[in-house]
Amino acid sequence: MSDRLRLGVMVSGSGTNLQSIIDACEAGRTGACVAVVTSNRASAFGLERARKHGIPTVHIPVGQTGSPEWEAADARQVEVLQAHGVQLVCLAGYMRKIGPRLLDAFPGAIMNIHPALLPAFPGVEVQWTAADYGVRIAGCTVHFADEEFDRGPIIIQAAVPVMPGDTGDELAHRILQQEHRIYPQAIKWFAEGRLSISGRQVLVKEAPPPLIDGTAIISPGLDP
Ligand code: GRF
Repeated sequence: MSDRLRLGVMVSGSGTNLQSIIDACEAGRTGACVAVVTSNRASAFGLERARKHGIPTVHIPVGQTGSPEWEAADARQVEVLQAHGVQLVCLAGYMRKIGPRLLDAFPGAIMNIHPALLPAFPGVEVQWTAADYGVRIAGCTVHFADEEFDRGPIIIQAAVPVMPGDTGDELAHRILQQEHRIYPQAIKWFAEGRLSISGRQVLVKEAPPPLIDGTAIISPGLDP
C-alpha cells in the first residue's frame, strides 16, 4: 500500500468517475490509492461513495471565484491534500475553478476529466450542447489541468458515435462509460512515471496503439 501513488480526488456531484477510480485502485489496476476525497458540496454523493470505502472526506466550501472565500478554499485544499500525502490530484466532476495555490503546489500533477473531445465543447453540460449541435462523434478527454477550464495538455481521449435521435442524456451516458475506462488508465500511466509534458504534448511512454472496439475509439489505447 505504502508504495502506491496517493491520489486526492475532488468532486462536486455524483462521483461515478470517483467510483471507477476507487474500483480500479482496489483491484490493483492503477498502482495508486485514493488518500482523500474533497468536495465543495457537503451533499455530493461522491463523499458518500468515499466513506463507504473508508476513505477520508473533507468538505471545503468554495464561494464565488476570486472571492476571499475562494482564495481561502484554495489554501485549504492544498493544506488538506498535503496533509494526506497526496501526489496526484484528480478533478472528477469538480465544477469549480481551481486556484493558483493548488496549481503551484502540484505542478504537472493535477488531472481533469471532461465529457467532450477537447478543444471542442469546453464548459458545462456539453453533452447536451453537442447533441443539440448535431455532431456525429462525441467523446471525453483526460488532461492535465492549468489555470483555465478544460485547456491543459491532453493525455487520452475516447470518441463515441452519436446515434440518430440521441438525447443529451443518452449521449452523456455513452460518454460516461468511456470516462470510466480512460481516467483510471491515465492515473496508472502517471503512477508508473510514463507521462511527461512538453508544451501542449503529453508523451506516454510505451503507449499502446489506439484501441477500437464496439463502443469507442480510444487513443492512446489502454494497457493490456
Ligand atoms: C462527468 O461527465 C465529468 O466528465 C464531468 O462531470 C461529470 C461528473 O460525473 N466533468 P461523476 O460525478 O463522475 O458521475
